[in-house]
Amino acid sequence: VLIPVILSGGAGTRLWPVSRRAFPKPFMRLPSGESLLGRTLDRALAVADAGEVVTVTGFDYRFLTADEYARSATRPFRSRLLLEPAGRNTAPAIVLAALDIAQRHGEDAQLLVLPADHLIRDVDAFAQDVTAARALAAQDYLVTFGITPTAPETGFGYIRAGAALDGGFAIDAFVEKPDLATAEGYLAAGNYTWNAGMFCFSAGALLAAAAATCPEVLAAARACLDATPRESDVVSLDKPSFLAQPDISIDYAVMERAARRAVVPARFDWSDIGSWNALGELTAPDAIGNRVQGEAIVVEGRGNYIQSEGRLVAAVGVNDLVIVDAGDAVLVAGRDQVQAVRHVVDTLRQRD
Ligand code: GDD
Ligand code: MG
Repeated sequence: VLIPVILSGGAGTRLWPVSRRAFPKPFMRLPSGESLLGRTLDRALAVADAGEVVTVTGFDYRFLTADEYARSATRPFRSRLLLEPAGRNTAPAIVLAALDIAQRHGEDAQLLVLPADHLIRDVDAFAQDVTAARALAAQDYLVTFGITPTAPETGFGYIRAGAALDGGFAIDAFVEKPDLATAEGYLAAGNYTWNAGMFCFSAGALLAAAAATCPEVLAAARACLDATPRESDVVSLDKPSFLAQPDISIDYAVMERAARRAVVPARFDWSDIGSWNALGELTAPDAIGNRVQGEAIVVEGRGNYIQSEGRLVAAVGVNDLVIVDAGDAVLVAGRDQVQAVRHVVDTLRQRD
């Protein structure tokens, strides 16, 4: 069986003021009216052959998640929620899901880890690539999906492909978030892909790899599950033992160091909606490069992205700005500075 595991955590602080602690990025509405989480559920249901989807998310998001699923489900399914009292990054979330699935479905059950903050349009191509990944996962590979890089992004993992396998390649090297010079070298070398952040593996293979590369994560996850009542499909992870999990991503904890890894070159389109520029790209520009969601008037300006949730926004004589009116807060940022929007959130948190 294949159980999709949707990861929906992280505040998405670079998309403030629309994404915020009470309403994070997976729940944001796209220009199409759908949410990233709803789209992710769609993808999950396209491949969930046991009719079950596991979601790991924050306790505070249990109702938002259930609402979103009720709105977007294309068919009935079993929704199992693992609820975290706080974020401890992706390694604990994935290892906990693998333990829970191994206990209920056996170690050969396969997990398909799906971040809730990606946009993929071609669900058929995605499903085909998942089929290729499953064949490799059945041979105990930890399988990643490789995206052809278009820029020396430092926020991604980079994968160097080695020997050809059926449906993909063995991984020679996996480097999480390299510095700019290293990323530029990888792009120039040409034989690297970005890690899409989606993974496919059997529960048993992932747990064996974790035992080898991050035994402390595995031990902490076991202790947490042991302390957690799990009869219902809404599982509140035991707080004290959950808070004792190391805060580390699966990329550093397992993927950089595991022995048996493979990459399937993605045939699907992929966008990590990581910043206002990426979100702006979803709206077609007018003749002079302004993109508008909601009501706005631009006079003598080009290259702006303007989004308003009600009020009319007028911009005069300004270029290359991101302007977002969320009703109770307004963001004005330079297009080349959108990564720094997270510092607004840092400042707000210091005031709390
Ligand atoms: N449940 C839960 N709990 N989910 C989490 C947590 C957590 O504590 N932390 C992060 N997530 C979710 C995020 O919501 C997102 O959907 C996914 O896990 C990945 O986390 P990010 O924080 O967005 O990771 P990243 O973007 O820095 O890097 C990862 O994704 C890149 C592609 O987008 C890595 O896998 C990179 O190698 C990869 O290139
Ligand atoms: Mg991300």
